[in-house]
Amino acid sequence: MSLHVRDIETRFRTTAGEVHAVNGVSFDVGDGELVGIVGESGSGKSVTINSILGLIRTSGTITSGTATFGGRDLIAMRSRDLRKIRGAEIGFIAQNPFGALNPVLRLSRQFENVVRAHRRLDRKEIRRQALAMLGHVGIHQPERVLDGYAHELSGGMAQRVVIALALMLDPTLVVADEPTTALDVTVQKQILDLISTLVRERERSMLIITHDLGVVANYCDRVVVMYCGRVMEDGPVREVFRRPYHPYALALLRSVPRAGQALQTLGGRLPKLNAQPVGCLFRDRCPYRMDVCDRVTPPLREVSPGRKVSCHLDVEQEVPTLVAG
Ligand SMILES: Nc1ncnc2c1ncn2[C@@H]1O[C@H](COP(=O)(O)OP(=O)(O)O)[C@@H](O)[C@H]1O
Ligand SMILES: [Mg+2]
Repeated sequence: MSLHVRDIETRFRTTAGEVHAVNGVSFDVGDGELVGIVGESGSGKSVTINSILGLIRTSGTITSGTATFGGRDLIAMRSRDLRKIRGAEIGFIAQNPFGALNPVLRLSRQFENVVRAHRRLDRKEIRRQALAMLGHVGIHQPERVLDGYAHELSGGMAQRVVIALALMLDPTLVVADEPTTALDVTVQKQILDLISTLVRERERSMLIITHDLGVVANYCDRVVVMYCGRVMEDGPVREVFRRPYHPYALALLRSVPRAGQALQTLGGRLPKLNAQPVGCLFRDRCPYRMDVCDRVTPPLREVSPGRKVSCHLDVEQEVPTLVAG
């Protein structure tokens, strides 16, 4: 099922003042589409999806925006209605698998709890389905895992269990926040292959948050590039990677080390987000800065079919093509 996010704004109250973490984010996840959100650490990726899924804690407020999923606005919805959607129609895979598992309950009970919150099934049937799903995610001794506890699992195994839990009710949208950051590279690949295969086989949609451009290149159809709580660029992965339009996307792609090529770090630092942001937030690090960038927030506009960018430049003319590596 498709998700349409419009103008999400989220702030936090802190002892140091307000933090404007997300500043008007819009994007879509179409039916059957795998979309990646990328950006440096602190760019508002997690806050964006937590806002959509009703997972913002008390110090945070969503001050504007809508997130339409199957005709319903998740932002305006009461939390108990949203809880019904989360888990059943939207499967969420969090960054830390151990945080998502209860340490004192047998895993079999956690599968029962997840299923029973949404469906009327008896324990035997839930067990049968849980064993099948654990097999699907590559767990070789599902009986043993199901009858044990989270602390008996390795990080990779725990993440597989979390994926199995998230997919138990066959959600139409899978949302994953850096699902493999804690895992070693081989396990990372196995897990991402697994999630993306399950999503594609079932013609489901997926939104995956990552700071790893390689993950986007390998698994996603479209990419949303975020910076300081704003969308800088949005388009098909192949096109954006071949020819990024936004100077930030260009810098990000250039910073990826290729074989035999040193990593180029981005100059400058992220601006502080403690006041209502004005103008382009990338301007201090942008080699193409103009006067207008200080005063006017560039709107996210469609540059060519399916490609959006928030930049005052005539990007097709003025931003250089990424030199192929
Ligand atoms: N609970 C919170 N209180 C205050 N600031 C927060 C809170 N959660 C996130 N932030 C701030 O919001 C910004 C975006 O954070 P986040 O969405 O976690 O970034 P990302 O997931 O892209 O690394 C950061 O500046 C972060 O410090
Ligand atoms: Mg995050």
